[in-house]
Amino acid sequence: MKTYIVGNWKLNFTVGEASIYLHKLLKNLPNYRDVEAVVAPPLIALQPLSLQVDRHKLKLAAQNGFYRDYGAFTGETSYTQMRGMADYAIIGHSERRYIFREDDKMVAKKVAAAIRNRITPILCIGETESERAFGETADVIRDQLIGGLSEVSDDDLDKVIIAYEPVWAISSVKAAKLATPDEVAEVVKLIRKVLKETYGAEFAESVPVLFGGSVNPSNAGAYLTVPGVNGLLMGGSSLILKEFLDIMETAKRVRS
Ligand code: 13P
Repeated sequence: MKTYIVGNWKLNFTVGEASIYLHKLLKNLPNYRDVEAVVAPPLIALQPLSLQVDRHKLKLAAQNGFYRDYGAFTGETSYTQMRGMADYAIIGHSERRYIFREDDKMVAKKVAAAIRNRITPILCIGETESERAFGETADVIRDQLIGGLSEVSDDDLDKVIIAYEPVWAISSVKAAKLATPDEVAEVVKLIRKVLKETYGAEFAESVPVLFGGSVNPSNAGAYLTVPGVNGLLMGGSSLILKEFLDIMETAKRVRS
């Protein structure tokens, strides 16, 4: 299985800045065979960057998209419109769930819409600090997993990636804490257990599971060696060229 290193740029960079960053990234990024490098630019930069990117080195992801393909949905952009531009789509990110009130039903529709448009969904799940404190982590993970995958047919399950991002570990959250590799291992094990019970062993073992939450060059190696983790989803570190390149190098080293 490949290792996935995904940079979520969130609401950062103008179109011009994104293009300059991409130029530098492509210039410095070796072509790693087993490590898939992905960046998710702001939607407004997706189209120009899709013309600029070298897909042998780097893939692009959408940060958001609408679940209907066309119609009277003022202000929205569909995965149909991003077809051929985005290779991946981040869906169910905690910032979308909590700031924009996206629930599991909407997340499920977006996952299905991405697949329908040949875009690989990266389904994000994760508990908040208070859910963890109240011992609700397992329930939240189960609900978000089963809810988010509820509109995916069995035949399409192999097109899905899961990302575990504990909300309390995301760098922009007040008083964010680093998740320990053991804490990550425990939840990743739970994710695969829930998937095995619901969809069978084959999917549970083969689905890529990424970790995200304050990943940086000094902890990336530790997270990448957690059993069952197949990659990383980064925010802050993906905005700093050297850090993104360092983490790619770490991913290559960990694999070999
Ligand atoms: P940070 O790496 O800045 O904690 O962000 C994580 C994240 O939300 C990526 O989607």
